[in-house]
Amino acid sequence: MKRIIALLAGFAVTTCILTGCTPDPVQDPGTSSPEEITSSASEAVSSEEIQSQAESSQEAPSQTVSSKPVVSQGNPSQFVSSETTSLVLPDVTDLKDQPHYREELTKRYATYKAKNPKLTNEQIVTRVNIGLDQPYYTGATPTDLSDGILMVVNKYHYLPEDYQPENMELVDKKYWSVGFPVPLYMQMEAKLAFESLCEGGLAEGMTILARSGFRDYAFQKRIYNNYVSMDGREKADTYSARPGYSEHQTGLAMDVCTDTHGYLQFYKTEEAKWVKKNAHTYGFIIRYTEEDVSITGYSAEAWHLRYVGVEAATYIYENGITFDEYHARFVAQN
Ligand code: DAL
Ligand code: ZN
Repeated sequence: MKRIIALLAGFAVTTCILTGCTPDPVQDPGTSSPEEITSSASEAVSSEEIQSQAESSQEAPSQTVSSKPVVSQGNPSQFVSSETTSLVLPDVTDLKDQPHYREELTKRYATYKAKNPKLTNEQIVTRVNIGLDQPYYTGATPTDLSDGILMVVNKYHYLPEDYQPENMELVDKKYWSVGFPVPLYMQMEAKLAFESLCEGGLAEGMTILARSGFRDYAFQKRIYNNYVSMDGREKADTYSARPGYSEHQTGLAMDVCTDTHGYLQFYKTEEAKWVKKNAHTYGFIIRYTEEDVSITGYSAEAWHLRYVGVEAATYIYENGITFDEYHARFVAQN
């Protein structure tokens, strides 16, 4: 394992020394398509361009990328009045039927229901259990590592600074995108599933390539701090995870691109459509979607795949929910 860290650090540092870059280990100029550069620099206002610029600002590798606001960094409770004192709290006795109802959270359920009367009982219990009734990072607790491939890392659950999965393996180099500065690792089970996904795609003419896999705490810290210095903390929080809060540290996430489109432009490709339709059959989900920004707290990332196993991925896909919700309903111990 120490060898892996040394390798990661070595490659990143070497790359930075060679290129004289501001430390951003995710920077991958080799895979930036001309299209990506053009759209990033443009001030055009077509809807596609707005989408392109929004994505460019999410994990923007270049200092020249135009920084435009993407989402407001807040969860549903933050979009409504914070005047909890004047709220008339509704009766929430009927919430007790929910399988994950927690007695000690009764007042929070009632407050959340008062603020979000259109949500179902299941949504209220699930969202409060996730922590979404409070600002992101409030009361954050360590990720339960015993959840294995179903461990949740989000804005309420973090990994220890020294956490690294034991069972990591190098993803087969034939699936790497060109020019990425660090070796691409995933946990063994996720790696095998990822390679199967790539193979499955290839069989249907899709070239899906790996771009960023395991990132340790120190690596994520450098990336995040770089974005904060570029965009400020509030904006950086909408597209980059704070150190300890990144799924990449689990060894279960992989960012993807194609041979013609960098990851920021991945959403435009046939491969992205294929991934959307098929990833769950290999145990992967698209973790951050447009529809779920208010739950995940991150702008959409068509490129960020998270391995959760076929059963969970299929449930998430078929029911259109987030992994945060799946975890709160089916994995978290009350
Ligand atoms: N871009 C994702 C949220 C990360 O930094 O892990
Ligand atoms: Zn990612």
